[in-house]
Amino acid sequence: MASTTIREALVPAAGRGARLDRPGTPKPLVTLGGVPLLLRNLRQLARAGVERAVVVVGYEADSVRCAVACRRDLGLVVEVVEHPGWAAGLASSVRAARGLLQGRFLLAMADHAWDDATVRRMAAVEVEAGGIVGLVDAEPRRVRDRASAVRVRLDGDRIVAIGRGLTPYHAIDAGLFAATPELFEALAVADGGELSDGVRVLAEGGRCAAVRVGEALWDDVDTPADLVQAELRLRRRRRGAAVSPEVGPRPPATTYRFTTGAPARTDVVVARGIVRGPAPFRMICADSASSPVFVVTDGTVDRLYGERFVGRLRAQGYDVRRVVVADGEGAKTLASYGYLMEQIVSAGPDALSVVVSLGGGAVCNVSGFLASTLFRGVTLVHVPTTLMAQCDAAISHKQAINGARGKNLVGSYYAPQAVFVDVQVLQSLDDRQLRDGLAEALKHALAQDRAYLRSLLERPVDLRDPDFLEWVVRRNVELKCQLMQRDPKELGEGMVLQYGHTVGHAVEHLSGYGLTHGEAVAIGMMAAARTARLMGACGEELVDVHTRLLERYGLPTAIPDGIGADAIVDTIRSDKRYLVEGVRMALLDRPGRLWSVDGEHAIPVPDDVLARALAGCRAGSARSLRS
Ligand SMILES: NC(=O)c1ccc[n+]([C@@H]2O[C@H](COP(=O)([O-])OP(=O)(O)OC[C@H]3O[C@@H](n4cnc5c(N)ncnc54)[C@H](O)[C@@H]3O)[C@@H](O)[C@H]2O)c1
Repeated sequence: MASTTIREALVPAAGRGARLDRPGTPKPLVTLGGVPLLLRNLRQLARAGVERAVVVVGYEADSVRCAVACRRDLGLVVEVVEHPGWAAGLASSVRAARGLLQGRFLLAMADHAWDDATVRRMAAVEVEAGGIVGLVDAEPRRVRDRASAVRVRLDGDRIVAIGRGLTPYHAIDAGLFAATPELFEALAVADGGELSDGVRVLAEGGRCAAVRVGEALWDDVDTPADLVQAELRLRRRRRGAAVSPEVGPRPPATTYRFTTGAPARTDVVVARGIVRGPAPFRMICADSASSPVFVVTDGTVDRLYGERFVGRLRAQGYDVRRVVVADGEGAKTLASYGYLMEQIVSAGPDALSVVVSLGGGAVCNVSGFLASTLFRGVTLVHVPTTLMAQCDAAISHKQAINGARGKNLVGSYYAPQAVFVDVQVLQSLDDRQLRDGLAEALKHALAQDRAYLRSLLERPVDLRDPDFLEWVVRRNVELKCQLMQRDPKELGEGMVLQYGHTVGHAVEHLSGYGLTHGEAVAIGMMAAARTARLMGACGEELVDVHTRLLERYGLPTAIPDGIGADAIVDTIRSDKRYLVEGVRMALLDRPGRLWSVDGEHAIPVPDDVLARALAGCRAGSARSLRS
C-alpha cells in the first residue's frame, strides 16, 4: 500500500452541464467565490500537493482550454486533452486520459466543490494496488438532488455496489477518487457511459474502499440552485473563518436575557376624497386628540392640498402645525431631516404628538424616520399622495433618508399607526409620475402575482382612468399587506419588495436622481431578469415578459449611456443590503415567483454575471441572450 501524497490528478471538464443552463458559459467556467470552478479545483489540488493535472475538455473546448492555459498561477502543471467524443458521457472523458497517468492519481470532478481539508485528506489516502478509494457522504439527506445522484452501498469501509438507481444505499458518491490506472481497464471492461460502471467493476472485485466526508460540506454543481447553494455555503464558511477569537480560560459569567416587542398593527384605509375631507375618518387617535399634530408635506402638495387638509383638521379642533419640506429627494437629506426636527421640536410637541405625512414617498420616508426618532418614537400616520407612495412607500415599516453615497442609508423600521389612501389625488399627477408609481405595482405583479401580471398585460392601458388606478392601488395594498404581515423586515419572502432595487437604487443615485425611483426600478428589474436568465434560474420568457410589460407602460428598460457598469457595481457596494462577500439580489425563477434556494431569497450573484446582465441592459444591445 502506498501512503505518500498523490502527485497527479485527472480532471474531467468536458461536459456541457445542460441542467445548469448558463447561456454562454461552459459549466467548468461558472464561478464560485469569484473563481471559475475548474481553476478553483486545480488550485485546491495544488495546495493538496498535486504537481500535475490532466484536464479533459470537450464542450466549448477552446474557451475551457484558454481559461486554463492562460493561467500561470495555478501552482501545478496542466496538460489539456481535447476529447471530441465528450458527449458519450463521463466515462469516455476519463478514458480519454488513458496512458497519460502511470501511477496513483486523484480523479476530481470539475463540477464539484470540496473544502481544502477534504482534498488534502484524499491526496494522502492509502490506495491498494489496482484499487480505488471513493469519497462518499454517508448523510444522504444533506444531498440536494438525491434522485439523480450516484448512490453507494457500503460494507464497513468498502464500496460494494454503486450506481444511480441503487436501492438500498448508504451513501452518495462525492465526486473525488484516489485511483490507480486499473480504473481505465475497469472502464474498458464495463463499457458503459457512466464512471460508476467502471468503479462497479473494481467494487465487485473487492478493490474499492470508501472515505467518508464526515461533517465537511461538498457540492455537486448540476443545477442553478446547486451553484447558488455552493456559493452560499462558501460565503458562510468565509464569514465564519474571518476571525479567530482568542480561546482562553473564561471567568465565571452569567447570561441574563429579556425578550420584548408586541406585533404592531397598521390599518390601511382606501377611499376616495380623504384628502379634501379627512373629517369622517378619525385620522388622529383619541389619545392624541389634545396633543400638537404635525403635518409634514412638500411645496407642491402643500399648494394643491395643504390648506384644505390642514384646515379641515383644525376645524375639528386639532392643534395642527404644518411643516413644508423640499420636493422629491431634497426632502430626504440629512439637512432636511435636521431642519424638520428643529422645526418640530421648537414648536413644542408632546409625547402623544402625531406626525402626519401628506405627500409622496419622499415625504413618507422622511416623516417616518422623523417620527421614529422624535422622543424615540411618536405616532405616525401616512396620507400618501402619489401612486408610488400609495402602492408601496406608505405600506411599509421602512423609514429612511439618503446618505451622500446612496439611497436610504440612514433609517429605521417603524410602524405607521394608520395609512389613509385617497386615489382621487392621483388625478393631479402628471403622466410621468403615474408611470413612475406604476413601476412598483408592476414589481408586485412580476414577482408576486401571476394573475395580476396577466391582467396588466391584457387590460387596455389608460393611466388616467380613475377605476384603473384604484384597481392597481387596491391590488397592491392587498399584496403589500400580505407581505408585511409575514416578513416586515424583508429577510425572507419579503425580499419581493427588493426586486429590481439592487441595480435600481444604484442607477437612480448615479443619474443624480434625474431618473425617478420607478424608472430606475424598472431598469433594475430588467437587469434582475437578465441576471436570473444568465444564472440559469429561468428561461428567456422571463426576460421577454419584463420587456413587454415595462414597454407597455412606457417605462425604461435600458441603462442610460452616461452610467457605467463599474460605477453601478461600486454603488451597489455601498447599498445597505450589501455583504462583504459579494452582491446578493432578489431574483425570479418564473413570472410571479421569487427564486428561493433552500429558503434563501437573497441570491448571491457572481460579478461576471452581473457585468453581463448590465451589458445586456444597454440600448441597442441584443434583446435576447440567445442571439
Ligand atoms: N419605504 C419604502 O418602502 C419605499 C418604497 C418605495 C419608494 N420609496 C421611496 O419613495 C420615494 C419616491 O416616492 P414618490 O415617487 O412618491 O416621489 P416623491 O415623493 O419625490 O414625489 C414626486 C413629486 O410628486 C409631487 N406630488 C406628490 N403628490 C402629488 C399629487 N397628488 N399631485 C401632484 N404632485 C404630487 C411631489 O411634490 C414631488 O414633487 C423614493 O425616495 C423612494 O426611495 C420608499
